[in-house]
Amino acid sequence: MHAIETEDLWREFRGRDGRVIALKGVNLKIRTGELFGLLGPNGAGKTTLIRILTTLLLPTRGRAYVLGYDTSREEDKIRPLINMVSGGEYSGYGLLTVKENLWMFSQFYGIPGPEAKRRIEDLADLLNFRDILNKKVRTLSTGQRQKMNIARAFMTEPKVVFLDEPTLGLDVEVAREIRRFVRGWLSEREGRTVLLTTHYMHEAEELCDRIAIINEGRIIALDTPENLKRMVKREFSLHLRVEPEIGVEWISSIECVSGLTTKKTETGTYIRVIMDCEEGIGEIVHGVMRRGARITYLNKEEITLEDVFLKLTGRGLE
Ligand SMILES: Nc1ncnc2c1ncn2[C@@H]1O[C@H](COP(=O)(O)OP(=O)(O)O)[C@@H](O)[C@H]1O
Ligand SMILES: [Mg+2]
Repeated sequence: MHAIETEDLWREFRGRDGRVIALKGVNLKIRTGELFGLLGPNGAGKTTLIRILTTLLLPTRGRAYVLGYDTSREEDKIRPLINMVSGGEYSGYGLLTVKENLWMFSQFYGIPGPEAKRRIEDLADLLNFRDILNKKVRTLSTGQRQKMNIARAFMTEPKVVFLDEPTLGLDVEVAREIRRFVRGWLSEREGRTVLLTTHYMHEAEELCDRIAIINEGRIIALDTPENLKRMVKREFSLHLRVEPEIGVEWISSIECVSGLTTKKTETGTYIRVIMDCEEGIGEIVHGVMRRGARITYLNKEEITLEDVFLKLTGRGLE
Protein backbone atom coordinates (compact mmCIF):
# COMPACT_ATOMS: atom_id res chain seq x y z
CA MET A 1 0.00 0.00 0.00
CA HIS A 2 1.17 3.51 -0.79
CA ALA A 3 0.99 6.28 1.80
CA ILE A 4 -0.60 8.57 -0.79
CA GLU A 5 -2.19 7.64 -4.07
CA THR A 6 -4.20 9.63 -6.57
CA GLU A 7 -6.07 8.39 -9.61
CA ASP A 8 -6.81 10.79 -12.42
CA LEU A 9 -7.45 13.67 -10.06
CA TRP A 10 -9.11 16.77 -11.48
CA ARG A 11 -10.18 19.96 -9.75
CA GLU A 12 -11.99 22.82 -11.33
CA PHE A 13 -12.83 26.20 -9.81
CA ARG A 14 -15.54 28.47 -11.12
CA GLY A 15 -15.15 32.08 -10.23
CA ARG A 16 -15.96 35.52 -11.52
CA ASP A 17 -13.20 35.26 -14.11
CA GLY A 18 -14.55 31.98 -15.44
CA ARG A 19 -13.23 28.48 -15.12
CA VAL A 20 -9.84 27.53 -13.73
CA ILE A 21 -8.73 23.93 -13.95
CA ALA A 22 -6.22 23.68 -11.13
CA LEU A 23 -5.54 19.93 -11.48
CA LYS A 24 -5.69 18.09 -14.78
CA GLY A 25 -5.52 14.35 -14.21
CA VAL A 26 -2.90 13.93 -11.50
CA ASN A 27 -1.69 10.38 -10.89
CA LEU A 28 0.71 9.95 -8.00
CA LYS A 29 1.95 7.06 -5.88
CA ILE A 30 3.96 8.11 -2.85
CA ARG A 31 5.62 5.35 -0.85
CA THR A 32 5.53 5.02 2.90
CA GLY A 33 8.75 6.45 4.34
CA GLU A 34 9.36 8.86 1.49
CA LEU A 35 10.09 12.54 1.73
CA PHE A 36 8.33 13.44 -1.46
CA GLY A 37 8.52 16.86 -3.09
CA LEU A 38 6.01 18.58 -5.31
CA LEU A 39 7.91 21.26 -7.17
CA GLY A 40 6.25 23.86 -9.30
CA PRO A 41 5.74 27.59 -9.84
CA ASN A 42 2.97 29.69 -8.32
CA GLY A 43 -0.43 28.64 -9.57
CA ALA A 44 0.73 25.16 -10.60
CA GLY A 45 -1.87 23.43 -8.39
CA LYS A 46 0.26 22.42 -5.39
CA THR A 47 -2.00 23.81 -2.66
CA THR A 48 -5.11 22.48 -4.39
CA LEU A 49 -3.63 18.99 -4.32
CA ILE A 50 -2.63 19.34 -0.65
CA ARG A 51 -6.13 20.54 0.24
CA ILE A 52 -7.68 17.50 -1.43
CA LEU A 53 -5.26 15.11 0.28
CA THR A 54 -5.90 16.68 3.68
CA THR A 55 -9.67 16.27 3.11
CA LEU A 56 -10.35 20.01 3.04
CA LEU A 57 -11.48 20.05 -0.57
CA LEU A 58 -13.29 17.56 -2.82
CA PRO A 59 -11.92 16.69 -6.24
CA THR A 60 -14.10 17.42 -9.27
CA ARG A 61 -13.19 14.03 -10.67
CA GLY A 62 -10.92 11.11 -9.75
CA ARG A 63 -9.92 9.65 -6.41
CA ALA A 64 -7.30 10.24 -3.76
CA TYR A 65 -6.22 7.89 -0.99
CA VAL A 66 -4.19 8.62 2.12
CA LEU A 67 -3.03 5.56 4.06
CA GLY A 68 -5.52 3.58 2.03
CA TYR A 69 -8.53 5.73 2.96
CA ASP A 70 -10.57 7.63 0.40
CA THR A 71 -10.18 11.38 0.99
CA SER A 72 -13.74 12.05 -0.24
CA ARG A 73 -15.51 9.60 2.04
CA GLU A 74 -13.28 8.64 4.93
CA GLU A 75 -12.01 11.95 6.23
CA ASP A 76 -12.71 10.91 9.82
CA LYS A 77 -10.28 8.00 9.36
CA ILE A 78 -7.62 10.18 7.76
CA ARG A 79 -7.64 13.31 9.91
CA PRO A 80 -6.31 11.78 13.17
CA LEU A 81 -3.39 10.27 11.24
CA ILE A 82 -2.14 13.36 9.42
CA ASN A 83 -1.09 16.91 10.05
CA MET A 84 -0.27 19.93 7.93
CA VAL A 85 1.72 23.15 7.96
CA SER A 86 1.49 25.92 5.38
CA GLY A 87 4.03 28.64 4.72
CA GLY A 88 2.98 32.06 5.91
CA GLU A 89 0.15 30.70 8.07
CA TYR A 90 -0.78 32.49 11.24
CA SER A 91 -1.98 30.03 13.80
CA GLY A 92 -2.30 30.33 17.54
CA TYR A 93 -3.30 33.12 19.88
CA GLY A 94 -1.08 36.17 19.89
CA LEU A 95 -1.66 36.97 23.54
CA LEU A 96 -0.54 33.53 24.71
CA THR A 97 3.07 32.41 24.86
CA VAL A 98 4.53 29.82 22.52
CA LYS A 99 4.45 27.23 25.30
CA GLU A 100 0.82 28.05 26.16
CA ASN A 101 -0.18 27.82 22.51
CA LEU A 102 1.51 24.47 22.01
CA TRP A 103 -0.03 23.22 25.22
CA MET A 104 -3.47 24.34 24.07
CA PHE A 105 -3.05 22.57 20.74
CA SER A 106 -1.83 19.42 22.47
CA GLN A 107 -5.07 19.38 24.45
CA PHE A 108 -7.17 19.93 21.29
CA TYR A 109 -5.35 16.97 19.82
CA GLY A 110 -5.99 14.89 22.95
CA ILE A 111 -2.37 14.22 23.85
CA PRO A 112 -2.08 13.17 27.53
CA GLY A 113 -0.58 15.94 29.72
CA PRO A 114 2.83 14.55 30.71
CA GLU A 115 3.41 13.25 27.18
CA ALA A 116 2.45 16.64 25.70
CA LYS A 117 4.90 18.44 28.00
CA ARG A 118 7.69 16.08 26.97
CA ARG A 119 6.96 16.48 23.25
CA ILE A 120 6.90 20.29 23.49
CA GLU A 121 10.27 20.26 25.26
CA ASP A 122 11.77 17.85 22.71
CA LEU A 123 10.50 19.85 19.75
CA ALA A 124 11.80 23.10 21.25
CA ASP A 125 15.24 21.49 21.40
CA LEU A 126 15.14 19.90 17.96
CA LEU A 127 13.87 23.06 16.26
CA ASN A 128 16.06 25.30 18.40
CA PHE A 129 13.37 27.56 19.85
CA ARG A 130 13.72 27.02 23.57
CA ASP A 131 14.52 30.73 23.90
CA ILE A 132 11.04 31.79 22.76
CA LEU A 133 8.91 29.34 24.75
CA ASN A 134 7.81 32.10 27.11
CA LYS A 135 7.37 34.82 24.50
CA LYS A 136 3.95 35.94 23.40
CA VAL A 137 3.17 34.76 19.88
CA ARG A 138 2.28 38.26 18.62
CA THR A 139 5.87 39.36 19.29
CA LEU A 140 7.48 36.59 17.24
CA SER A 141 9.34 36.96 13.96
CA THR A 142 8.05 35.07 10.92
CA GLY A 143 10.72 32.41 11.34
CA GLN A 144 9.99 31.93 15.05
CA ARG A 145 6.28 31.66 14.35
CA GLN A 146 6.90 29.07 11.65
CA LYS A 147 8.97 26.97 14.06
CA MET A 148 6.00 26.98 16.41
CA ASN A 149 3.69 25.95 13.55
CA ILE A 150 6.02 23.10 12.67
CA ALA A 151 6.10 21.97 16.31
CA ARG A 152 2.30 22.17 16.43
CA ALA A 153 2.00 19.77 13.49
CA PHE A 154 4.71 17.28 14.44
CA MET A 155 3.52 17.14 18.06
CA THR A 156 0.81 14.65 17.06
CA GLU A 157 3.35 12.16 15.69
CA PRO A 158 1.44 12.07 12.37
CA LYS A 159 1.77 9.16 9.97
CA VAL A 160 1.67 11.54 7.03
CA VAL A 161 2.76 15.18 7.20
CA PHE A 162 1.84 17.73 4.55
CA LEU A 163 4.13 20.75 4.34
CA ASP A 164 2.84 23.36 1.90
CA GLU A 165 5.76 25.70 1.13
CA PRO A 166 6.96 25.44 4.74
CA THR A 167 9.93 27.77 4.32
CA LEU A 168 8.14 30.41 2.23
CA GLY A 169 9.72 33.77 2.88
CA LEU A 170 11.90 32.59 5.76
CA ASP A 171 15.52 33.61 6.08
CA VAL A 172 18.18 31.15 5.04
CA GLU A 173 19.16 30.01 8.53
CA VAL A 174 15.63 29.26 9.78
CA ALA A 175 14.77 27.51 6.52
CA ARG A 176 17.86 25.34 6.97
CA GLU A 177 16.92 24.49 10.58
CA ILE A 178 13.44 23.47 9.48
CA ARG A 179 14.76 21.28 6.66
CA ARG A 180 17.25 19.63 8.99
CA PHE A 181 14.48 18.95 11.49
CA VAL A 182 12.16 17.38 8.90
CA ARG A 183 14.93 15.13 7.58
CA GLY A 184 15.93 14.04 11.08
CA TRP A 185 12.36 13.46 12.18
CA LEU A 186 11.70 11.15 9.26
CA SER A 187 14.96 9.25 9.53
CA GLU A 188 14.31 8.39 13.17
CA ARG A 189 10.88 6.92 12.53
CA GLU A 190 9.47 3.95 10.68
CA GLY A 191 6.44 4.16 8.45
CA ARG A 192 6.09 7.95 8.25
CA THR A 193 5.74 9.97 5.10
CA VAL A 194 6.21 13.64 4.28
CA LEU A 195 4.77 15.42 1.26
CA LEU A 196 6.31 18.83 0.79
CA THR A 197 5.50 21.45 -1.81
CA THR A 198 7.93 24.13 -2.81
CA HIS A 199 8.90 26.42 -5.62
CA TYR A 200 12.44 26.60 -4.26
CA MET A 201 14.55 24.42 -6.49
CA HIS A 202 17.40 23.90 -4.04
CA GLU A 203 14.97 22.93 -1.28
CA ALA A 204 13.49 20.11 -3.36
CA GLU A 205 16.89 19.04 -4.54
CA GLU A 206 18.49 19.00 -1.10
CA LEU A 207 15.65 17.46 0.83
CA CYS A 208 13.53 15.12 -1.24
CA ASP A 209 13.91 11.43 -2.08
CA ARG A 210 11.75 11.89 -5.15
CA ILE A 211 10.27 14.92 -6.81
CA ALA A 212 7.24 15.44 -9.00
CA ILE A 213 7.44 18.55 -11.13
CA ILE A 214 4.00 20.08 -11.52
CA ASN A 215 3.08 22.74 -14.04
CA GLU A 216 -0.38 24.08 -14.91
CA GLY A 217 -2.11 21.24 -13.07
CA ARG A 218 -0.13 18.40 -14.62
CA ILE A 219 2.75 16.29 -13.36
CA ILE A 220 5.31 16.69 -16.12
CA ALA A 221 8.16 14.67 -14.58
CA LEU A 222 8.68 12.43 -11.57
CA ASP A 223 11.92 10.90 -10.37
CA THR A 224 14.82 11.26 -7.93
CA PRO A 225 16.60 14.64 -8.09
CA GLU A 226 19.60 12.87 -9.63
CA ASN A 227 17.61 11.20 -12.38
CA LEU A 228 15.69 14.36 -13.13
CA LYS A 229 18.94 16.16 -13.71
CA ARG A 230 20.07 13.39 -16.05
CA MET A 231 17.15 14.26 -18.28
CA VAL A 232 19.15 17.26 -19.30
CA LYS A 233 22.04 16.33 -21.52
CA ARG A 234 25.29 15.46 -19.82
CA GLU A 235 26.82 18.71 -20.93
CA PHE A 236 28.10 21.39 -18.63
CA SER A 237 29.67 24.72 -19.31
CA LEU A 238 33.15 25.76 -18.29
CA HIS A 239 33.76 29.45 -17.82
CA LEU A 240 37.30 30.78 -17.75
CA ARG A 241 39.18 34.01 -18.10
CA VAL A 242 42.77 33.99 -19.34
CA GLU A 243 45.39 36.72 -19.66
CA PRO A 244 47.04 37.86 -21.74
CA GLU A 245 44.94 37.28 -24.79
CA ILE A 246 45.51 33.99 -26.64
CA GLY A 247 44.03 32.22 -29.65
CA VAL A 248 41.42 29.60 -28.80
CA GLU A 249 40.84 27.62 -32.01
CA TRP A 250 42.68 24.64 -30.50
CA ILE A 251 39.97 24.30 -27.80
CA SER A 252 37.34 23.48 -30.43
CA SER A 253 39.38 20.50 -31.56
CA ILE A 254 39.24 18.82 -28.11
CA GLU A 255 36.99 15.83 -28.61
CA CYS A 256 34.28 16.46 -26.01
CA VAL A 257 33.90 20.16 -26.72
CA SER A 258 30.70 20.97 -28.55
CA GLY A 259 30.57 24.73 -28.29
CA LEU A 260 32.80 27.70 -27.65
CA THR A 261 32.32 31.42 -27.30
CA THR A 262 34.89 34.07 -26.42
CA LYS A 263 34.73 37.67 -25.40
CA LYS A 264 37.69 40.02 -25.26
CA THR A 265 37.85 42.19 -22.17
CA GLU A 266 40.38 44.70 -20.86
CA THR A 267 41.87 42.08 -18.59
CA GLY A 268 42.13 39.23 -21.09
CA THR A 269 39.83 36.78 -22.81
CA TYR A 270 36.62 35.40 -21.33
CA ILE A 271 35.96 31.89 -22.67
CA ARG A 272 32.83 29.77 -22.31
CA VAL A 273 33.13 26.16 -23.37
CA ILE A 274 30.24 23.71 -23.72
CA MET A 275 31.51 20.19 -23.12
CA ASP A 276 30.52 16.83 -21.70
CA CYS A 277 33.64 15.22 -20.23
CA GLU A 278 35.70 16.08 -17.17
CA GLU A 279 39.00 15.10 -18.82
CA GLY A 280 38.64 17.98 -21.26
CA ILE A 281 39.00 20.48 -18.40
CA GLY A 282 42.60 19.38 -17.79
CA GLU A 283 43.40 19.59 -21.49
CA ILE A 284 42.14 23.15 -21.64
CA VAL A 285 44.05 24.22 -18.52
CA HIS A 286 47.29 22.72 -19.82
CA GLY A 287 46.75 24.18 -23.26
CA VAL A 288 46.39 27.69 -21.83
CA MET A 289 49.55 27.32 -19.75
CA ARG A 290 51.57 25.91 -22.66
CA ARG A 291 50.70 29.06 -24.57
CA GLY A 292 52.24 31.17 -21.84
CA ALA A 293 48.96 32.61 -20.47
CA ARG A 294 47.48 32.26 -17.01
CA ILE A 295 43.98 31.48 -15.82
CA THR A 296 42.47 34.16 -13.60
CA TYR A 297 39.00 32.63 -13.33
CA LEU A 298 37.68 29.09 -13.76
CA ASN A 299 34.22 27.81 -13.00
CA LYS A 300 32.35 24.67 -13.99
CA GLU A 301 28.60 25.23 -13.99
CA GLU A 302 26.54 22.22 -12.94
CA ILE A 303 23.17 21.31 -14.39
CA THR A 304 20.48 22.21 -11.87
CA LEU A 305 16.79 21.32 -11.55
CA GLU A 306 16.16 24.81 -12.89
CA ASP A 307 17.66 23.63 -16.20
CA VAL A 308 15.33 20.61 -16.12
CA PHE A 309 12.28 22.77 -15.49
CA LEU A 310 13.39 25.13 -18.22
CA LYS A 311 13.85 22.30 -20.66
CA LEU A 312 10.42 20.85 -19.84
CA THR A 313 8.38 24.03 -19.83
CA GLY A 314 10.46 26.63 -21.59
CA ARG A 315 10.38 28.97 -18.58
CA GLY A 316 11.95 29.48 -15.17
CA LEU A 317 10.48 28.59 -11.80
CA GLU A 318 10.65 31.72 -9.67
N1 LIG B 1 -10.67 28.73 -4.30
C1 LIG B 1 -10.29 29.01 -5.55
N2 LIG B 1 -11.10 29.64 -6.41
C2 LIG B 1 -10.73 29.90 -7.69
N3 LIG B 1 -9.53 29.58 -8.18
C3 LIG B 1 -8.66 28.95 -7.37
C4 LIG B 1 -8.99 28.63 -6.01
N4 LIG B 1 -7.92 28.01 -5.45
C5 LIG B 1 -6.97 27.94 -6.41
N5 LIG B 1 -7.40 28.50 -7.55
C6 LIG B 1 -6.65 28.58 -8.82
O1 LIG B 1 -6.14 27.29 -9.12
C7 LIG B 1 -4.82 27.38 -9.62
C8 LIG B 1 -3.87 26.58 -8.74
O2 LIG B 1 -3.75 27.24 -7.50
P1 LIG B 1 -2.91 26.63 -6.29
O3 LIG B 1 -3.30 25.22 -6.08
O4 LIG B 1 -3.06 27.55 -5.14
O5 LIG B 1 -1.42 26.70 -6.88
P2 LIG B 1 -0.01 26.70 -6.11
O6 LIG B 1 -0.24 26.27 -4.71
O7 LIG B 1 0.84 25.75 -6.89
O8 LIG B 1 0.51 28.09 -6.20
C9 LIG B 1 -4.50 28.85 -9.72
O9 LIG B 1 -4.79 29.30 -11.01
C10 LIG B 1 -5.43 29.46 -8.70
O10 LIG B 1 -5.72 30.79 -9.03
MG1 LIG C 1 0.28 27.19 -2.94
